[in-house]
Amino acid sequence: MILLKSQSQTSVPFEQYPTFMLDVIEGLAKSQKEIPCKYFYDERGSMLFTEICQTAEYYITRTELQLLEQILPEVSARIGGNATVVEYGSGEGRKIRDLLRALQEPRAYIPVDISAEILFDSSRRLKREFPGLAIHPLVADYTAPIALPELPSDGQSGRQVVFFPGSTISNFNPAEANRFLRNIRGFLRPGDVFLLGVDLIKSPNRLHQAYNDYDGVTADFNLNLLRRINRELGANFKLHQFEHYAFFNPRYSRIEMHLLSLTDQVVTIGQHQFSFREGETIHTENSYKYSVDGVVRLGHECGFRHEQVWTDTEKLFSVHYLSAK
Ligand code: AVJ
Repeated sequence: MILLKSQSQTSVPFEQYPTFMLDVIEGLAKSQKEIPCKYFYDERGSMLFTEICQTAEYYITRTELQLLEQILPEVSARIGGNATVVEYGSGEGRKIRDLLRALQEPRAYIPVDISAEILFDSSRRLKREFPGLAIHPLVADYTAPIALPELPSDGQSGRQVVFFPGSTISNFNPAEANRFLRNIRGFLRPGDVFLLGVDLIKSPNRLHQAYNDYDGVTADFNLNLLRRINRELGANFKLHQFEHYAFFNPRYSRIEMHLLSLTDQVVTIGQHQFSFREGETIHTENSYKYSVDGVVRLGHECGFRHEQVWTDTEKLFSVHYLSAK
């Protein structure tokens, strides 16, 4: 593993994002206002995301869980024993339990997540369930190249497995996805594994529903970003003067999420003022949808062999087994 020193590995929430203010100020100064989607995940945002995953419309989580359940014996046989598993965006850790249980004597688990609370909570619980497993949680923003803790290599260790489920890759634009895969390839050895869950291109109406659930959980999740900015950065967004707006943009094969201003208004953040016209939006998230071929191509471009893909019968979702060349 190649190790870099990272300054983002702290459990103190305030120091974790020294750039939150800067990112918001900079993003709102653009002609198309935008805020990076990684800031959705404060404690409430993380809970709302868990709730999104349970809505009837959001097929992603349940489809991936069912698919993993079916394929894990085969995945485990390919990976072999004594693996070290690195998981990006580990969240509350349901999928990893299934993977760790399926693997033959996994050695170590390194969950990497931007939300310290969720990370340390779930690591503690996981430790109780897998007492023999070394767990090294890492609070980090993996949209930048990150450091991994050094692990003893005593000659008995098996493959390194990078697990990136949930179609979190959807938040990267094509150039960022490319950079991310190359970065991962950079610390893997030949034969090591990148296990990747990716949401597939499908009917725009089906996609639209998944990001416009009937109960408005996704709307709450989106608007919670403004609540967080009010609380942490002392802003005065009036949440009822903004509306959740999500749609599929076929030109880029992506869902776009925006917060749409319902009126002409001015918002203050510290020294800064931002004016909004009625109908103007803050672009808060992209969720890119892939074809299987698109993932195969991406893997090849970044130094991986695409060994296997599994999809559910409806072809909603895909899991890819890539190995480092
Ligand atoms: C975590 C990026 C996979 O794009 O489906 C869900 C985030 N945003 N509903 C997705 C999300 C709104 C989710 N990912």
